[in-house]
Amino acid sequence: MTKEQLLDLIAQMTLEEKVAQLLQLTANFHEGTDSESQITGPMEEMGLTEGMVSASGSVLGLSGAQTVIDVQKSYLSKSRLGIPLMFMADVVHGFKTIFPIPLAIGSSWDTELAEKSAEIAAKESAVAGIHVTFAPMVDLVRDPRWGRVMETTGEDPYLNSLFSRAFVRGYQGDLKDPDRLAACVKHFAAYGAPEGGRDYNTVDMSERNLREYYLPAYRAAVEEGVEMVMTSFNTVDGIPASGNEKLMRGILRDEWNFDGVLISDWASIHEMIAHGAAEDDCEAAYRAIRAGVDIEMMTPCYVHHLPALVQSGKVDEAMIDEAVLRILQLKDKLGLFENPLRAADPEREREVVFCEEHRQVSYELATKSIVLLKNENHVLPLAQDKKVALIGPFAQSEDILGWWSCEGVKEDATKLGTALEERLQAGNLVMAEGSGVHSITPEQVEEALQAAQQSDIIVLALGEESAMSGEGGSRTDIRLPEAQLALVKHLKQVGKPLAVVLFNGRPLDLHGVFDEADAVVEAWFPGSEGGAAIADILIGKVNPSARLTMSFPQSVGQVPVYYNRFNTGRPLDPKKNEERYVSKYIDSPNEPLLPFGYGLSYTTFEYSDLRVSSEEMTAELPLTISVQVKNIGVLAGVETVQLYIRDISGDVVRPLRELKGYVKLELAPGETGKAVFTLSEEQLRYHHSDLSFKSDPGKFQLFVGSNSRDTLTQSFRLAASN
Ligand code: BGC
Repeated sequence: MTKEQLLDLIAQMTLEEKVAQLLQLTANFHEGTDSESQITGPMEEMGLTEGMVSASGSVLGLSGAQTVIDVQKSYLSKSRLGIPLMFMADVVHGFKTIFPIPLAIGSSWDTELAEKSAEIAAKESAVAGIHVTFAPMVDLVRDPRWGRVMETTGEDPYLNSLFSRAFVRGYQGDLKDPDRLAACVKHFAAYGAPEGGRDYNTVDMSERNLREYYLPAYRAAVEEGVEMVMTSFNTVDGIPASGNEKLMRGILRDEWNFDGVLISDWASIHEMIAHGAAEDDCEAAYRAIRAGVDIEMMTPCYVHHLPALVQSGKVDEAMIDEAVLRILQLKDKLGLFENPLRAADPEREREVVFCEEHRQVSYELATKSIVLLKNENHVLPLAQDKKVALIGPFAQSEDILGWWSCEGVKEDATKLGTALEERLQAGNLVMAEGSGVHSITPEQVEEALQAAQQSDIIVLALGEESAMSGEGGSRTDIRLPEAQLALVKHLKQVGKPLAVVLFNGRPLDLHGVFDEADAVVEAWFPGSEGGAAIADILIGKVNPSARLTMSFPQSVGQVPVYYNRFNTGRPLDPKKNEERYVSKYIDSPNEPLLPFGYGLSYTTFEYSDLRVSSEEMTAELPLTISVQVKNIGVLAGVETVQLYIRDISGDVVRPLRELKGYVKLELAPGETGKAVFTLSEEQLRYHHSDLSFKSDPGKFQLFVGSNSRDTLTQSFRLAASN
């Protein structure tokens, strides 16, 4: 439809019909999905009339081709103007084929495969009737206590922006294709920086910090053409995001020219009352609509109060029309006016969803997301003729999909024990539970010890259950539960090599595990094909190549600990650890246990011959940087060569390292490869104290290596521009 046609449609709508378009409700409000009593219960609770529900513009969390078709048909049969309903859901890391959690996908440093995963997730959910996904979540994170770190790709603004773009491309493609979804980037803004890592807590930071670290990944999504943005629950500079005019109208719409749909997070308009930023729902509605929030998710502030606010002249009806237009434009882009059922098709749904081809991509992404954290004496890969004892609460666990796998079926996931059994010689695997996630009994210990004694190597599958991360899953103690640490101690007594496989949704404090184990494999929540992927890594069919995108702290006492930190005026010289008046802890190293970019391979890569094309960079002349990388082991492997810089004297203090690029090299044993980077003046720009975005002439250092800690280095100067 043309804009004129849509405006014409809006002109025919009553104020109540317009406001209902701004209301989003869950599936149980809609006929055909639930019994009468369940429909009327929540309706009464929210004070909604049937008219409001039957004219509401979008629905949350409903899927299944036939159900969606029924709801859409029944909705349209009652619609005066024939405006179709839009179906939205949280398709975060897959629909039925579940991919590894986003923090794991980040560890792959493989944006192409990430894009592919989003394309598959879009296809599976589109045929099941969904039009919009509440993804990608691109909040930058530095605090592993926060449960939602599992939903992000980590602590680096550059890498997060690359993934943000990849996910948006993967979900949306060309929206004319009914197998794609509109994406909704979230949670704008800075939801990933809650004080103390406690979910929904206060966020407070300087505007410079916000712009430099937290905003780039949302902006990248907007530049990539994301159709929707979701507000966050938190305050930004003291004002709840959902009522924050400067953030929404100022930065998002005026500065970034975002003209898509802005949706609140679940109840976040109403929650302005609890924040202390609105006296009642009416004031909350007023603040949100002025800030430019188009859709209100799951609270009725808009439907109850916007009509009166318009009638009293406090809110201009043009503001409502503007929001309705954006919503109708999205419905139109999705092709819903011509085909309200879009891709929903029960037959195709059966063919497409969880098909072999999709599972294969999930498997591949899982193998690329699993990070080898330690491997002393090459205990891994498992030798063919060795007897293996697989022990632990995750040895045969189905809980490997991770939080936000709403439609994923746990029972369909490939379990580690089953996959390993298929791969090892008959009779070479014994299994024991050893402990529960939180409990341990003498009988479990006894059985585990017996299994261990019969074997040459112990593989211990430990972790957090999925509900220990995700939304509302913040923790203050991020060690493994005590029962599992006790199990490690018992098995350590056996004196056999110990390889630990970890299932978890956040960087953990690995006290009680890391030093005790000979090898540690970080499997995250690896998704539908997780067991197969881990087993293939354990037996060496796949050589691990993933790299951490979030630092693993020594303990929570260090948090936040992240790689792109400042040096301080009194940096600790590691050789003079006894010095007192320097920036350090007296009971812990400053460095994290495992830094950003870190990950091992079964082979070893040797770096040499770092070359920079010139000692001086100019605005016109970028530098070419190269390094030789040799595979000095006996297995083929993939190395992720990383380029970092440090601006030595900034207008404001600059981080010790900033990632500027990376190159993957696939090298056969003995082969030498060359990683080549280009670095231009543009990549040296940042927000100065007056918020201007520019570079500083002067001295820089660059670093190239296999992670943010172990690097070769050189210096160069940026010439002053005339
Ligand atoms: C979460 C969002 C999610 C929404 C809808 C909220 O609680 O913060 O990320 O998209 O629920 O399910």
